[in-house]
Amino acid sequence: MQFKIPKGVFDILPQDPDPEGKWRESHLWMLVETIAYQICNAFGFKNIRPPIFESTELFQRSIGTGTDIVTKEMYTFQDKADRSLTLRPEGTASVLRAYVEKHLDQLPDQKFFYILPMFRYERQQAGRYRQHHQLGVEAIGSHSPYQDAEVIHLLVEFLNRLGIHGFKVQLNSIGNMDTRNAYRQALKDFLLPFFEELSLESQQRYHINPLRILDSKDPRDKKILQDSPSILTFLDTDSENHFASLCHILEDVRIPFEINTKLVRGLDYYNRTVFEVTSDALGAQNSLGGGGRYDGLLKTLGGPDLPAVGFGAGIERIILTLLKQQVPLPSRPHPTLFLIPLGDVAKKSAFRLTSSLRKQSINVEMELDDRKLKAALRYANAIQATFVAVLGEEELKTGTVELKEMSTGKSEKIALDMLSKRLKNDR
Ligand code: HAM
Repeated sequence: MQFKIPKGVFDILPQDPDPEGKWRESHLWMLVETIAYQICNAFGFKNIRPPIFESTELFQRSIGTGTDIVTKEMYTFQDKADRSLTLRPEGTASVLRAYVEKHLDQLPDQKFFYILPMFRYERQQAGRYRQHHQLGVEAIGSHSPYQDAEVIHLLVEFLNRLGIHGFKVQLNSIGNMDTRNAYRQALKDFLLPFFEELSLESQQRYHINPLRILDSKDPRDKKILQDSPSILTFLDTDSENHFASLCHILEDVRIPFEINTKLVRGLDYYNRTVFEVTSDALGAQNSLGGGGRYDGLLKTLGGPDLPAVGFGAGIERIILTLLKQQVPLPSRPHPTLFLIPLGDVAKKSAFRLTSSLRKQSINVEMELDDRKLKAALRYANAIQATFVAVLGEEELKTGTVELKEMSTGKSEKIALDMLSKRLKNDR
């Protein structure tokens, strides 16, 4: 009996047999993760790894009971002791749960990052999966608009360093609770005369979560929304000043952005700053990353009353964009040398030589299974070894090998004790 992978999830493999599956190749994931680590380190963010499931209530409380994530998308199950648990749909709630539980406010590090899988029961399409991965950052404790700017800069720098181009930073402020209450009513008042013309989804949202109507992709909804009131005219003075300062800081460090007054996020915990980085390369699922400020959330979860700001960026969508934009990327790692021993004595020597070269961090593979020379050479070619060398009685006697470059077919005789020096030059 053979089993199939569940719908909406995928394997990350060294090489994907499907030509459309290049984005699932692990060397690309490792590249993106390595750059994420470097950037987070440069910005002073420290790695945090909460568990993959948490109590269901944590996510309900944080993300909001009226959101799509909580009402439709969570992987919730009862464990054997009848606790309700949920596979993490996003990282912020888990980080804050750990922060409160472990009293992390007592420790110096207040800026966290994670690269973790998230689980959402969504309709599968390109760029939208039931298990996706996010680079997320959460900076806790600062009210300063410079903290918002730092977090946005980190995301922009990450995408720049990867070589992605043409992305847009969209920025908005959703003020405080009063702003949102007043705006919600104003938006409902504005939409009421058009109610019958709205899409079915927006009609439902009108009652549950009217701000999300602003997110609608439906062309009719978009037309109606063209003249809708702007949330920025409802901001309290502090939020207004915060937003103005943030815009100035971003201009000062030359981070281009657009103000999008219709930008609201799919999670309820935000206040003041919200932002999203979008790319046209992806079609409908155009958000590479999004985040914002969530000043009240920590307190709601029983922690100290500290402000916070962060974002999550989708690794799948980032890799898809890199490929779509044909950004030059390193090829799959391949061995510098493939060593083929002939006979048992040579095999012993070859293994010794391989071990010694590996200790010097040279990527070497050797034929372990006594395949015929022709088959071993074919294999060396398939794994794209740069050089191949045969180690037989003659080579052992003279202490030299014939180093053959696979791409050109050129050979050179080289003393075994000079091999590591020669290969290091060719890495
Ligand atoms: P989010 O907007 O729900 O925010 O997700 C962040 C990013 O994850 C999206 O911009 C997108 O790139 C990616 N993403 C989300 N869902 C999927 C999916 N089904 N398939 C593929 N990629 C997806 C959050 O999760 C917040 N926790 C971000 C945050 C952190 N805000 C403050 N701190």
